[in-house]
Formats: sequence, structure tokens, C-alpha cells
Amino acid sequence: MTTNKPVLLSGIQPSGQLCLGNYIGAIKNWVGLQNDYDGIFLVVDLHALTVKQKPSELRNRCLSFLAQYIACGIDPGSNLLVIQSHVHQHTELAWVLSTLAYMGELNRMTQFKDKSTKHQENINAGLFTYPVLMAADILLYQADLVPVGADQKQHLELARDLAQRFNQRYSDTFVVPEPFIPKQGARIMSLQSPESKMSKSDTNENNFIALLDPPDTIRKKIKRAVTDSFTDIQYDEENRPGLANLLVMYAEVAGMEIKQVVQQFENKCYEVLKSELAEVIIELLKPVQSEYHRVIQDKKYLSDILSNGAENASYRARKTISKVYRKIGLVPRVQ
Ligand code: TYM
Repeated sequence: MTTNKPVLLSGIQPSGQLCLGNYIGAIKNWVGLQNDYDGIFLVVDLHALTVKQKPSELRNRCLSFLAQYIACGIDPGSNLLVIQSHVHQHTELAWVLSTLAYMGELNRMTQFKDKSTKHQENINAGLFTYPVLMAADILLYQADLVPVGADQKQHLELARDLAQRFNQRYSDTFVVPEPFIPKQGARIMSLQSPESKMSKSDTNENNFIALLDPPDTIRKKIKRAVTDSFTDIQYDEENRPGLANLLVMYAEVAGMEIKQVVQQFENKCYEVLKSELAEVIIELLKPVQSEYHRVIQDKKYLSDILSNGAENASYRARKTISKVYRKIGLVPRVQ
């Protein structure tokens, strides 16, 4: 499947549970952009190995994430859905790119710093070179646009730098990808600690809304979300981050501007905002969850999608990697 449309590519690590932050910051935009692009959506299982995983859970989670992409509205008929490890050229290109990436550059990556603080017992080399693998994911398919949340901005800049560095050294080879980071909702915050990002692998499940959370869990989690001791509804990210986060979530889920949400809840108390927010989230997720439960049962359907994805993606990946190997001076293998 190749079209004349520009290539849109993105991916999610199969760790933890897909959450509202992933939906608002990434998946929602994939769905919105998919008709205008030649879309490739990855489940980046190799990336997930940088944190300890239980093998059987990782395997199930990959399929579950795939089914959730589809349930959220990604059309498998017009996009490629690919498990990263099914296309071996990702790691091959990552190796080549790692010889162009500087230690100093990787040392500056804030996500590496955060993750190595969080997982002190397992600061592995993969955690350090992770952004190079991500650059390979993107450059391998000559992606034009990469829709992600704000936390991936620095990684995207590295991918662009590596593409430009390679092109300068060896002549034009890679498309230099553009990030697509939404103006609103690019950084949804944790419900209990609104000064940090909502994360799908948070050990405290009260910090995030999972896309598969049942309605009562959603009500409970939103009700318990940390706010402040003021009583009026105003958007003030710096001084009232918990409330600001609830307002952003409401705006994103209901398809509104923050200003409009503030107006809607003017003179109402936090309880009303919280209970209405819970209900709009439940409404958003109801069809997603029922589609998910249907799709996840159909293993043949999922495996056909993955086999088609792997086949088409491998074809494109082979083209890029053979060009790269030729340009850097490797001897082509005789078939
Ligand atoms: P990951 O798996 O941490 O997150 C997946 C996507 O969700 C976005 N996101 C958020 N957006 C808003 N608010 C939040 N609280 C929030 N949390 C997560 C992320 O920005 C991301 O878009 N390295 C990537 C995965 C990756 C990738 C790629 C992405 C690997 N290769 C190639 C794009 C292209 C990651 O760990 O995302």
C-alpha cells in the first residue's frame, strides 16, 4: 500500500495501560489526520524493553494496544498498523544512526534523565540509546509528519538532526520529519500530582484514566483528583495546576476551547465540574470500549492486520535500508 499522500507516522510503547493522556496528546490527532495522510501506526515493543517487562504481559499488551488503536478510530483499511519488532530494519537503521548521534546529545535528553532517576536499579544502555531507535522508526518510513505529545518534542528534534546530519554527510536520503504537537492537550497532567505528566505506567492507578476503565472507576478517579482550596473556576496553570488540568481535559474531550469551559462552569463548584467531566469522559470511552471488546476477541482479524502491516512496512523499510547501506559504503549482499 503506497499512496501519493505524505507519510504520517507515530507510535506508543506497550507499557502500562493506554490512558487519556495518550489519547488526547496523540491518538485523537492520529484519528483526525489519518484521511489526509498515508498513516503508519506502531506498537513499539522494542522500546518497551528498556523497562523490565513480564513476557506474557508484554505479548498480550501489544495486541491490546493494537485493538485500542482500532477502537479509537484508526482505520486498518487505509493505514498500516505495525508491531515494531516485526520489521527488523528498525534496529539496523538505529545502529547506523547511533554512529552519527553524539553522547552529549543523548545525555541531554530529559526523558533519559527522568527514567534513570525512576529506575535506578536498571539504567540500561537501551534507555540511553532509546531516542536513536525512535529516530530510526521515523526515518525508516520517510515520515513527513509525526503527531506526538509535548514530552516527545526533544526526541523529534534529535530525529530531525540525525536526518539532516546523514543527508549532509552522504547526500539527500531522509525526509526531515515535522512534529505535530497540539496547541491544547499536549501535556495532560497526573490526577493526584498535577505538577507531573499523566503516565500510563504510573504505579498509582489513581493518577490516570485508562481508556478501558469502567465508568465507576472514572467517576472515582476524577472525584479524587487533586485541586486546590479556592472555590471559583478559573484557568491558572501555574498556581492552580490541578484545576487547569481538569479544564483542559474537559475542553479536549468535549471539543471546546478552555475559555468556553471556564464560562460554562462560571459560578459552579468543583464538584459539578468534576462530575460533568467524569460523564463526558465516560461518554467518549463508551463506544471505544465496546468496539475494543469486540475487536480483541477476533484474533484472526488482528493477526491479518499485523501481517499486512508487517509486509507493507518491510517493503518500505527494505528500500530505505538498502539505500542507506549503499550510501555509507557497505558491500551489497549478492542475492
Ligand atoms: P509513549 O508511549 O510514552 O506515549 C505515547 C504518546 O502519548 C503521548 N503522551 C501524552 N500526551 C499528552 N499528555 C500526556 N500526559 C501524555 N503522555 C504520553 C506521547 O507524547 C506520545 O505521543 N518514545 C515514544 C514512542 C515512540 C514514537 C516513535 C512516537 C517510539 N517511536 C516514533 C512517535 C514516532 C513514547 O515513549 O511514547
